Amino acid sequence: MKYDFDAITERRDTDSIKYDFAKKRGKPEGVIPLWVADMDFKTPPCVIDALIEKIRHGIFGYSETRQDYFEALRNWFSRQFGWNIQPEWLVKTPGVVFAICTAIRAFTGEGDAVLIQQPVYYPFSESVLANNRKLVVNQLAYSQGRYTIDFSDFEDKIIKNDVKLFILCSPHNPVGRVWTREELTILGELCLKHGVIVISDEIHADFTYPGHSHLVFSDIKPEFSDITITCTAPTKTFNLAGLHISNIFIPNREMRRKFRAELIRCGYSQSNIMGITACRAAYEGGSEWLTELKEYLSGNLDFVRSFLKQRLPQIRLVEPEGTYLVWLDFSALGLDDRELDDLIVNKAGLWLDAGTMFGAGGEGFQRINIACPRSVLEKAFNQLEQAIKT
Ligand SMILES: Cc1ncc(COP(=O)(O)O)c(C=O)c1O
Repeated sequence: MKYDFDAITERRDTDSIKYDFAKKRGKPEGVIPLWVADMDFKTPPCVIDALIEKIRHGIFGYSETRQDYFEALRNWFSRQFGWNIQPEWLVKTPGVVFAICTAIRAFTGEGDAVLIQQPVYYPFSESVLANNRKLVVNQLAYSQGRYTIDFSDFEDKIIKNDVKLFILCSPHNPVGRVWTREELTILGELCLKHGVIVISDEIHADFTYPGHSHLVFSDIKPEFSDITITCTAPTKTFNLAGLHISNIFIPNREMRRKFRAELIRCGYSQSNIMGITACRAAYEGGSEWLTELKEYLSGNLDFVRSFLKQRLPQIRLVEPEGTYLVWLDFSALGLDDRELDDLIVNKAGLWLDAGTMFGAGGEGFQRINIACPRSVLEKAFNQLEQAIKT
């Protein structure tokens, strides 16, 4: 490999939310942090170089993107997913969660129902509730270590609650599904049938494991693109979350107008110059790095799979099809969630995300972020084994 993903980069004392706030967030000092979704790998050299060049210039005035930025995006999405984006569709926001909150306010009124599929990335429910909308859950079905969608419940929930907006997580965090064309098509048809707008959060789209391909929901049918806000960002893919840049695509002109109007009400206009610079550099030059990263992550996943099989068979790996977040089923240990958290945090010395944070169906699970050097993962699983055995 050209890039060294085994290298340990010290992150303590760098104002890292993952490393520097254990005590403040109620965890003992010294826990191995494998929770929030950022990676312990340096961003590609092409991004670092572009940022250094920008810093050397020394002027950080208001910025806006130009044609070269859009071309970088166009080439990336076309190469990765065969998706042909148009310049007028693009609206930039400081983050995907920011865009989700904006869309909730732009397309629904107070008290309107918004549908999500739990267990799911917890800011989905937080965004709905914080904006005084009604949270409706179509719980994913779990059987034999795999998650599927209960479509009849999905439609029932839409009808019974007069759902206005559906937030799709694709690929799905935390259950790791890369939804198939058939699944996405059924969801889209149901949304069309009942006049439901779709926010498709595709921030994990670049992370799929061999045998699985991400499909852009909005690109499946022209009718879908007309009801969809597609949320993308280079921040998961290239480890840039602190630079706050995301690219939101809204083909429907009236929806775009409403979304922009809501951004104006928030007082948001131009993007952060560092985010713009990093995004363009990453999409222009980061593809070889990403290929190697994905290979490394596949190796990490192989490690987790074989460790659990050989040494902790009572813990079930929900085989991920995408994302670097792995959903582990601890239910066979027979612990309640307080006992499970105690085992993970206090006995094993790990900081993971407890399944209950992800809502309905999260009980008995923990989410672990495997985007770290393998030696860290080995240490973490050894500690887990010790804790369970004692
Ligand atoms: C599904 C999903 N959406 C959005 C985000 C965060 O996006 P942002 O930092 O751009 O708000 C994450 C981060 O983990 C995520 O997993």
